[in-house]
Amino acid sequence: MRIILDTDPGIDDSLAILYLAAQPEMEIVAVGSVHGNVPAPTAADNALRVLELAGLDNVPVAVGAHRPLAQELRTTEFVHGDDGLGGQAGRSPQRRPVDGSAAEQIVRLARSNPSELSILALGPLTNIALAVLLEPELPRLLKSIMVLGGALGVPGNVTTHAEANMWHDPEAADLVFDAGFENLTLVSLDVTETARADEAWMGALAEIGSPRAQFASALLKHYSDFYSRMFGFRTCTIHDPLAAALLHDPSLGRYKDVVVTLELRGTHTRGQLISDWRPIVDDSHIESQAGHGRCPVKATVSVDTETFLSR
Ligand code: BDR
Ligand code: CA
Repeated sequence: MRIILDTDPGIDDSLAILYLAAQPEMEIVAVGSVHGNVPAPTAADNALRVLELAGLDNVPVAVGAHRPLAQELRTTEFVHGDDGLGGQAGRSPQRRPVDGSAAEQIVRLARSNPSELSILALGPLTNIALAVLLEPELPRLLKSIMVLGGALGVPGNVTTHAEANMWHDPEAADLVFDAGFENLTLVSLDVTETARADEAWMGALAEIGSPRAQFASALLKHYSDFYSRMFGFRTCTIHDPLAAALLHDPSLGRYKDVVVTLELRGTHTRGQLISDWRPIVDDSHIESQAGHGRCPVKATVSVDTETFLSR
């Protein structure tokens, strides 16, 4: 499978890159960075660092959107560390980002490889939204898109209702869900919260001597320290690698079609991803069915967490 990775590394983004690099069937064709966990230029440098560690020295990395479409930039170094890599960034990457923006890169690659490429979106959806604005046919040019984000039936992880990737750029997310992607899989907190790395799992990883495992282990140490401070326990959610694993092996999950839309105005709920599960056949009398007329997304409703964590 050939993928364009859109990402904001970021601790769990970095783990997802390492996971993908270890799967022979998964080819990362290009990477775009996006604001989110850290500013977009920092995210691009971190992607280059992790690709270097993974031995993927030829994958181009383009810097993406520096800010959301309609709100101020907000980043979350308090979770991922000032460098976005839990203090493990080290020296500058050997390569530099390529010219052009991440959105332009998506459009160029999609046009020159119609129906061949899949996007794995692990950060705010600003780049994907910009790519749709540049090329409205993007949904037809891609093979598929997988989006990590949203909290459908569980609390948010930034506000009571909003998940981070939606909260960072709600307008961009809404534009993407309204763009006509017929093959969009959603991996929300509803399932990532069920696939947690506990201390035994992190301990086993720390026993592996390879530089990649040691790096991953150091990132998780920072991440679980944050969990310990914030929640009082160290068992942490590793969101982005789960999305990468589901893209690699969809049989790990179970899915249901549902239409989704973003809450863009709520005082306390802005950034909430709303899903309409009502089994309505005739909606002609319903004034505001959320996301009326949109393509449904394939929402992941459960995952085989044991198999995922064993990979
Ligand atoms: C998402 O937000 C970010 O902090 C993580 O990298 C992940 O993509 C989870 O809500
Ligand atoms: Ca991310």
